[in-house]
Amino acid sequence: MTGLLTRIAGPTVTARGLAGAGLNEVVWVGERMLLGEVIRIEGPLATLQVYEDTAGLSLGEPAVASGAPLSVELGPGLLGQVYDGVQRPLQALAAQEGDFLGRGVRLAALDRSLRWRFEPSVRAGDEVAPGARVGTAHGADGSSHPVLAPPWTAGTVERAAEAAAEVAVDEPVLWLRGAEPIALSHRWPVRRPRPFRRRLPPVVPFLTGQRVLDQFFPVAAGGTAVVPGGFGTGKTVLEQSLARHAAADVVVYVGCGERGNEMAEVLDEFPRLVDPRTGGPLMARTVLVVNTSNMPVAAREASIYTGCTLAEYFRDQGLQVALMIDSTSRWAEALREISARLEELPGEEGYPTSLASRLARFYERAGRVEALGGGEGSVTMVGAVSPPGGDLSEPVTQCSLRAAGALWALSPELAHRRHYPAVDWGPSFSLEAERLRGWFEREVAEGSGALRDEAVRLLQRERELQEVADLVGTESLQDAERLALEAARLLREGFLRQSAVDPADATCPPRKAHAMLELLLAFHRRALAAVERGVPLRAVLDTGLPAALLRLGQASEQDLWGGRAARRAELEATLARLEAE
Ligand SMILES: Nc1ncnc2c1ncn2[C@@H]1O[C@H](COP(=O)(O)OP(=O)(O)OP(=O)(O)O)[C@@H](O)[C@H]1O
Ligand SMILES: [Mg+2]
Repeated sequence: MTGLLTRIAGPTVTARGLAGAGLNEVVWVGERMLLGEVIRIEGPLATLQVYEDTAGLSLGEPAVASGAPLSVELGPGLLGQVYDGVQRPLQALAAQEGDFLGRGVRLAALDRSLRWRFEPSVRAGDEVAPGARVGTAHGADGSSHPVLAPPWTAGTVERAAEAAAEVAVDEPVLWLRGAEPIALSHRWPVRRPRPFRRRLPPVVPFLTGQRVLDQFFPVAAGGTAVVPGGFGTGKTVLEQSLARHAAADVVVYVGCGERGNEMAEVLDEFPRLVDPRTGGPLMARTVLVVNTSNMPVAAREASIYTGCTLAEYFRDQGLQVALMIDSTSRWAEALREISARLEELPGEEGYPTSLASRLARFYERAGRVEALGGGEGSVTMVGAVSPPGGDLSEPVTQCSLRAAGALWALSPELAHRRHYPAVDWGPSFSLEAERLRGWFEREVAEGSGALRDEAVRLLQRERELQEVADLVGTESLQDAERLALEAARLLREGFLRQSAVDPADATCPPRKAHAMLELLLAFHRRALAAVERGVPLRAVLDTGLPAALLRLGQASEQDLWGGRAARRAELEATLARLEAE
């Protein structure tokens, strides 16, 4: 079906004669066949958002409906790739076209020149169910990838490709009776969540390696966290350290930025990141989706859905996937711009009234599931938000946190004091912390939940005491109160603060975190007892214990966990000596 362009307004165009096209159908726009998507149909007119620059497009040029929705290609060869929002492979395009991506340039997402050896795990006569694993694809680079039947395919195996056959990703390898043949790859529409058997309860934490997050505001595997933070508060550094250190088999990182240099940094830095688990490149288990700066705003939306669909595909292989988005505000701003072009009735601050439901529907695609083909996989989402002026009451932050399981709010004051990660324990929350308590009690240590509560109370006490001290001066506080302030400082600086650059401290396993917290709080309790028995606070602080507690982060997990009892005994002995004097 071919229509004609009747209106061009920035990233949106209107075409007449496409009335039979469906919502979200891909349309090739103009002589150069720019990639567009139907976003509104009114009588004979279809409005399209165009994912490529529309400059130079003229009225009367053709618009050709493709008959299919925007979709991505899923199969072996995704890991290590850098894609733009519509899954064009940027590395391959740069090699072919140079750095500036021309419009209308097409290249398959998965390299057709690579050969894979298919090793079937089913035989003639076997039944293949939707999403089932049917074999393995072995790459020339030694990698191997599960091959899944597409979610819509079911049938009886007639024959499989020869075990030694080397094929391209799109060639059939398994022929079925009653269904089309299965290839190593298949396509999936990005806006449709991939199906699974059932949702599993969020009772396993998504360990990030950041103490403040794992111990205070944990998110479940398959959960969602939003990270609002004003300009320069550390959103990108945090997302990248989660990409490296969080417990995820695969990382899908969506760079949804507006500034070209921001994306250039991502493209420059990511390929150099080392995977702390393997010592090899992090890219070996990462897919990057980035909006190049010469793509119009509509492409941001595509990048979000593309990233999510890639993440679901790995989830369906029974893998734990982290989907990081930096930043969702740029997507919301794109929605606002498109909505204005469509002359829709604006909602709060000009965002479309559908903003909340769109964000909610998107975050709902996170989850821990039993996959169609069996196996447990998860997609955990971490979405950065860039509230203008750092104001958390703005619509994108508010709509996001209504949909999220955890809020990790970054504070400009903490960042200014170089307290990183600048997660503000005041406004931050986790709705999943209670349900995850059981896991920490079982897998880490009994009493870990109570310890966390005690730490939270100490921070609240600090806030109250600080208010008093600001009014009447610290000197008017009693020793016990000044001790609480000191213990809270140690908790903040020795525990919540965590260096992203110190290799010993960049990530913290939960047992190490537990041992640290245990010791810090034991110090508070034991020192309080000493002070109450008349030991001057000065003497307690001069023991060298505070300085040692501040250095705990640099110790290893074995050292701290294995030496728990010894450190406790040492602390006890030091303070008992003071009491005896
Ligand atoms: N965990 C950390 N450890 C050490 N330094 C940090 C940490 N987090 C942030 N920083 C410092 O703060 C700077 C800004 O961080 P980052 O770029 O992540 O902020 P951002 O919130 O993404 O900013 P923008 O709003 O511009 O995207 C970094 O360049 C770094 O110097
Ligand atoms: Mg940033």
